Amino acid sequence: MNTGPIKGLARVFDRVADAYDAGRPGYPDEIFRALGELTGVDLDGATTVDVGAGTGIMTRALRARGSRVIAVDPGAGMLARLVSRSEDGPPAVVAVLADGNALPLADGVADLVTYAQSWHWLDPVVSIAEARRVLRPHGAIVGCWNLNHAAQADWLAAYEARLAAAVPTYYGPAVEQWSVPPIASAFDVIEERWIPWTRLVGIEDFLLGLRSHSYMAAMSPGAADELVEWQRVELREAFPEGVLSVPMRVYLAVGR
Ligand SMILES: C[S@@+](CC[C@H](N)C(=O)[O-])C[C@H]1O[C@@H](n2cnc3c(N)ncnc32)[C@H](O)[C@@H]1O
Repeated sequence: MNTGPIKGLARVFDRVADAYDAGRPGYPDEIFRALGELTGVDLDGATTVDVGAGTGIMTRALRARGSRVIAVDPGAGMLARLVSRSEDGPPAVVAVLADGNALPLADGVADLVTYAQSWHWLDPVVSIAEARRVLRPHGAIVGCWNLNHAAQADWLAAYEARLAAAVPTYYGPAVEQWSVPPIASAFDVIEERWIPWTRLVGIEDFLLGLRSHSYMAAMSPGAADELVEWQRVELREAFPEGVLSVPMRVYLAVGR
């Protein structure tokens, strides 16, 4: 993903924590099946360090499948959201306000280290060294990104094109040099998989998700409002019933 210039804006997510939690999609079941198959780690009973956990979208999914989760994020606002949405009781969720490049964890405590839409925010070399340090010998590193699959629908390609036209720091499929992060080359053993799925979502929730992107949070409020209104008008015209069927795909990369 071509995100180099915006790395310094990591804390920008704190400004959009509510929109993030309400508007971003979850992950399809299939990625958890693939994750078990490719890592050889059974989530039920595993300990996972979820780096860049944000408001906990992946953390909750891991926990729902029986994993104890250590959720790490440097954004206090994002992590506060995660804590408020984590129920008590087993398996535990422990929230740690920290940088994923310097995990305040002992060696060999985890079966999995996950980066759900977050590895591109970290140092590509230091973060992986840290992941390896905290993993047990059989452990695995997992990176995943939940992406609009714009090539599958004209309306989505047009939506992405409007983003690229209006947002100077936009990165994504409408940008020619866009690509998935080079996480594959950072691992010893690597498996990659693309997992397609369809997201059914109301237009307003979809637009809330748009608001939660770092490139939106970095815009002036007026410009962001204008873009959201532009997208709203176009989407309502195309889908008067107000519901979108969004072609998505998850890029999943697994290494040791
Ligand atoms: C796009 S969000 C992903 C949130 C969540 N994992 C999910 O699946 O929705 C990226 C997260 O990475 C976090 N982040 C940015 N820099 C980081 C770093 N150096 N270490 C750990 N997390 C970081 C941000 O605060 C943000 O919460």
